[in-house]
Amino acid sequence: MDPLATMRAPTQSDLRTAPKPGTKKLYIKTYGCQMNVYDSERIADAMGPLGYQPVTTPGDADLVVLNTCHIRERAADKVFSELGRLRELKAERRAGGGDMRIAVAGCVAQAEGGEILRREPDVDLVVGPQSYHRLPELLLRVQEDGRSRIETEFAAQSKFDSLPRRTPAGRGPAAFVTVQEGCDKFCTFCVVPYTRGGEISRPAEKILAEIQQLSDSGVREVTLLGQNVNAYHGVGPDDGTWSLARLISAISSVDGIARIRYMTSHPRDMSDDLMAEHRDNPKLMPFLHLPFQSGSDRILKAMNRKHTAADYLRLIDRARAMRPDIALSTDIIVGFPGESEADFQATLAVVREAGFAQGYSFKYSPRPGTPAAEMGDAIDEMATAERLEQVQTLLASQQKAFNTGCIGRTLPVLFEKPGRNPGQIIGRSPYLQSVNATGSLAVIGQIAKVAIESCGLNSIKGVLVNGNPNNINAYQGDTTWQG
Ligand code: 5AD
Ligand code: SF4
Repeated sequence: MDPLATMRAPTQSDLRTAPKPGTKKLYIKTYGCQMNVYDSERIADAMGPLGYQPVTTPGDADLVVLNTCHIRERAADKVFSELGRLRELKAERRAGGGDMRIAVAGCVAQAEGGEILRREPDVDLVVGPQSYHRLPELLLRVQEDGRSRIETEFAAQSKFDSLPRRTPAGRGPAAFVTVQEGCDKFCTFCVVPYTRGGEISRPAEKILAEIQQLSDSGVREVTLLGQNVNAYHGVGPDDGTWSLARLISAISSVDGIARIRYMTSHPRDMSDDLMAEHRDNPKLMPFLHLPFQSGSDRILKAMNRKHTAADYLRLIDRARAMRPDIALSTDIIVGFPGESEADFQATLAVVREAGFAQGYSFKYSPRPGTPAAEMGDAIDEMATAERLEQVQTLLASQQKAFNTGCIGRTLPVLFEKPGRNPGQIIGRSPYLQSVNATGSLAVIGQIAKVAIESCGLNSIKGVLVNGNPNNINAYQGDTTWQG
């Protein structure tokens, strides 16, 4: 029988008998991208009304949720090893007279839900990325009859409509907000269109309301997330279709929001209005994560990317014409089926020409069910490893050069948290660099000017100008690039 056939929404009596807030412990382990980080926060929000309070270790948790990633094989393998450890932990807990429930959420759940339950019968729940809002209801059912459940439907109604308000407690000044999900691009190497489903955009009004709540709880910077975020085309409050640029423009009017970012973008959707927003909106941070994957047109075609290397470089030129200091970031895959040395050299050439402030590069990983996995013509593991090393060395040298270029400049930094050493505080520059400074904890949550004095590969370091933060309310955005 379909395990969902008997499903019903939790009743008032379920909720009355649910534990009081904070009486049960919830441990969530997040794998993969920022969208999963966001989803994990929302899973915690969803479980709050059943009395679950997040904890930082699985040891004494009543419910462990693995929010998983399927993008590369290694990411999926890690989930199965973690499940092995959890099986032992659950056995120990039961031996001591206690219990623990295990749920697997996210993209591995979507792609391999049946396999998970076959291999790990101790898993109680499997929920795909579009159904985690049903976790509370599913958990109650499991507790009733002890039977495992799997829910991987792409529901017609958005999960966002069923989730409680975001819980503000303990939030830092920077937050993620998912505005778009899924993808219709079908790059031949990628599982996202299968695990996350087709492209959907959240209505602008809902996003604006969520950001207003975040701002009320002290958030100053929002990063708008989507697998294809610049393809955003949500319904606006005027019933028209809003582009990402229109949405960003409206978000800049939310009181208290000083910085806006977005990721990840596809080159094909870098529209003129989004480019212009980078020129005209000082709250839109000068940072663009724009994957190009390969510099070889032949490989790009095999990847179904529908852009060429020249298209990509032209886009970058346009972005720089709009915002000369824009920091560029990218994703690159090496060792795609059939990639010759000449193809790889073309990738290095694009990196050299573009000049990235940071970049991520990956060995191609065949994903079951994707067209590329059927292509054959696999690249030798040694050659792939060598290519990865070369491209990573080049990207690291560009990152270091970008950071070095900041020395001597004064940058506005949003401070997010204390550092490891006493007196140290850590924040982010407009270019998404991690910034270390010495200063009072009172600066956390505010934007302060920092004179940059030194840098490493992954961070820059400086001193607070005048030792004082700017007044956030008077702050009109980060305009220092004009100087
Ligand atoms: N193998 C290697 N890298 C991949 N990516 C996506 N799918 C694969 C795969 N099968 C990379 C792409 C993408 C990033 C999120 O992960 O570069 O932009
Ligand atoms: Fe995957 Fe991005 Fe391609 Fe969509 S555009 S299929 S998410 S790599």
